[in-house]
Amino acid sequence: MNAKAHADPTGRGTRIRPGTEDDLGELTRIYNHYVTATPVTFDTEPFTPQGRRPWLTAHHTSGPHRLLVAEEDGTPLGYATSGPFRPKQAYATSVETSVYLAPEGTGRGIGSLLYAALFEALEQEDVHVALAGITVPNAASQRLHERFGFRPVGVFEEVGRKFDRFWDVAWYRKPLRPGPP
Ligand SMILES: CC(C)(COP(=O)(O)OP(=O)(O)OC[C@H]1O[C@@H](n2cnc3c(N)ncnc32)[C@H](O)[C@@H]1OP(=O)(O)O)[C@@H](O)C(=O)NCCC(=O)NCCS
Repeated sequence: MNAKAHADPTGRGTRIRPGTEDDLGELTRIYNHYVTATPVTFDTEPFTPQGRRPWLTAHHTSGPHRLLVAEEDGTPLGYATSGPFRPKQAYATSVETSVYLAPEGTGRGIGSLLYAALFEALEQEDVHVALAGITVPNAASQRLHERFGFRPVGVFEEVGRKFDRFWDVAWYRKPLRPGPP
């Protein structure tokens, strides 16, 4: 990562690093908040750390599928991921990205730090397009994605039911690198 990507707007020495299995408990705790209290993810039942392990180990320190963690004073405050968009082979050059912060870490630049580091890491990889599905409304997430060059491509209306109502998902797309000539 270059110096720009490490610029720390939080002023609190936030560090971005690859996630490890030692993070499983904290990252599960962060995610479960959004599972149980919000529609931003369509998981509806909280995970145990063991239940979340396959998700964590599907990410690697090289290749298109990454997990980056933001920590302050040794405590994870959030994470960003790139993962498969869909399983069929021709989709391998597309990734779906996401970012989740502990509620106490939101609104002070950590999401932007994570995405800067994630997209810098992906510059070295054979990925052509990043996609993000955002349950709307979610002003912070929509703004973050637009700031990083994602553009809206359409809304899938009422594709998820949670908390006894249907939710729309707005899909965003970011080009990553040119394809073959
Ligand atoms: C969405 C999320 C990752 C954004 O990260 P963040 O660290 O809070 O955002 P940042 O401080 O880096 O700000 C990024 C941009 O969003 C804007 N923003 C932040 N919070 C906002 C809010 N509540 N409402 C509107 N805009 C907001 C910032 O002003 C900034 O825009 P700018 O570059 O024009 O100034 C974070 O708020 C979060 O984890 N939210 C809950 C989980 C979630 O929704 N994840 C996304 C699932 S798709």
